[in-house]
Amino acid sequence: MNEAIRIRGGKPLNGEVRISSSKNAAVAILPAVVMASEIVKLYDVPNIEDIKALIKLLSKLGVGVVENGDSLVIDPTSIANVDLVDETVGRLRASYYFMGALLGRFKHVRMLMPGGCNLGPRPIDLHLKGFEKLGASIVIKEGIIDISAKELVGNDIYLDIASVGATINIMLAATFAKGRTVIQNAAKEPEIIDLSSMLNKMGAKVRGAGTSEITIDGVSRLKGCLHDIIPDRIEAGTYIIAAAMMGEHVRINNVIPQHIESLLLKLEEMGVDLETGSDFVDVYSSKTIRAVDIKTQPFPGFATDLQQPLTALMAIAKGDSKVTETIYSERFKHCHELNKMGADIKVLPAGKSLIHGVESLKGSEVTATDLRCGAALVIAGLAAEGETIIHDAYHIYRGYDSIVNKLRALGADID
Ligand code: EPU
Repeated sequence: MNEAIRIRGGKPLNGEVRISSSKNAAVAILPAVVMASEIVKLYDVPNIEDIKALIKLLSKLGVGVVENGDSLVIDPTSIANVDLVDETVGRLRASYYFMGALLGRFKHVRMLMPGGCNLGPRPIDLHLKGFEKLGASIVIKEGIIDISAKELVGNDIYLDIASVGATINIMLAATFAKGRTVIQNAAKEPEIIDLSSMLNKMGAKVRGAGTSEITIDGVSRLKGCLHDIIPDRIEAGTYIIAAAMMGEHVRINNVIPQHIESLLLKLEEMGVDLETGSDFVDVYSSKTIRAVDIKTQPFPGFATDLQQPLTALMAIAKGDSKVTETIYSERFKHCHELNKMGADIKVLPAGKSLIHGVESLKGSEVTATDLRCGAALVIAGLAAEGETIIHDAYHIYRGYDSIVNKLRALGADID
């Protein structure tokens, strides 16, 4: 597949853009719906390729998904727990949430191992350790994982790393376990809070999401619910960075500013002129962008998913910036692509990059090697002199709803 995005850089951005619902919340919430015994209605689900892939997997399971205005009506009442072994599973990371959800509901799941962006090694040992602690047995053979349990029984589970995926997967399976599960060193990301609030509307008993200790008291049935997914903090951050790069005055709407505080504070350090409202951020044109250092951390630290987009802005900042990536030590493929556009970035061993700010970037042919690399290249392309062609743009469409139309509406020359 080689879809490309073309940008003719140098056009100022003006106006308003509305942020879509959170990809990383939605990709957990859709698989969670298989645990319900009634219809679930989700509002404002983002129109992105990862969601289309999950809908495909839901329909394989016999779950009906119908679009109704701004909502998706999902009917799991005729679900059949078939093996999920087609290539769609391998295309996205979040397919692994079917493990926790189906294991919880049916005490058995058989599926292909998950795929997703190539950011270096992405093991799922903590997810599996959690399932085992709840009483499941696991067999992996020729890329297919089979997880089963006679019954699931609540337990205390300590995560060696505060993993988003493992926290969510254990929360899902434990919802149908007998008794109490306590997850220690749980991840605290807002998407986990959103999932837990939906599960609780359905009748689950999840307490403590958003803290490092989550308690789940098992239930035997979940009902339907209506749920509005939280706005996407990474999409919001991406547009804020794009506006910092090329904006005259851009208002980014449908944002929860508390979810992106670490980014907003870093941008202020860089000299970006911004104002925060209750659910929007205004970005004005800045005279000088200064270099800054960042270190990625689990929430509320600086998000790894914004490290790549921010590197595009650092590329034209005054001075030397340093990135320390502590979540995915190989998440630096965007640097080589940005260098093709005239950036001066050195990738160092042990998850670090050094960015020496240059006067300007030049349009070039580059490749989106992963989703957030693609976002970084779009931001760079908006500022670059001349034409930028971004190959493999399908990575970008996995996570950014209508990105071409949204940027065009702000004045970008993009198609
Ligand atoms: N890890 C393990 N073992 C595990 C699980 C994780 O060693 O069993 C390690 C990972 O290799 C990584 C660290 O723990 O070094 C954190 O990984 P985590 O499990 O938190 O990440 P994830 O659940 O796989 C989600 C998002 C990512 C985002 C990370 C970190 C989804 C579908 N993906 O991934 O989003 O970068 O959390 O916030 O929610 C993206 O949207 O571009 C993206 C990659």
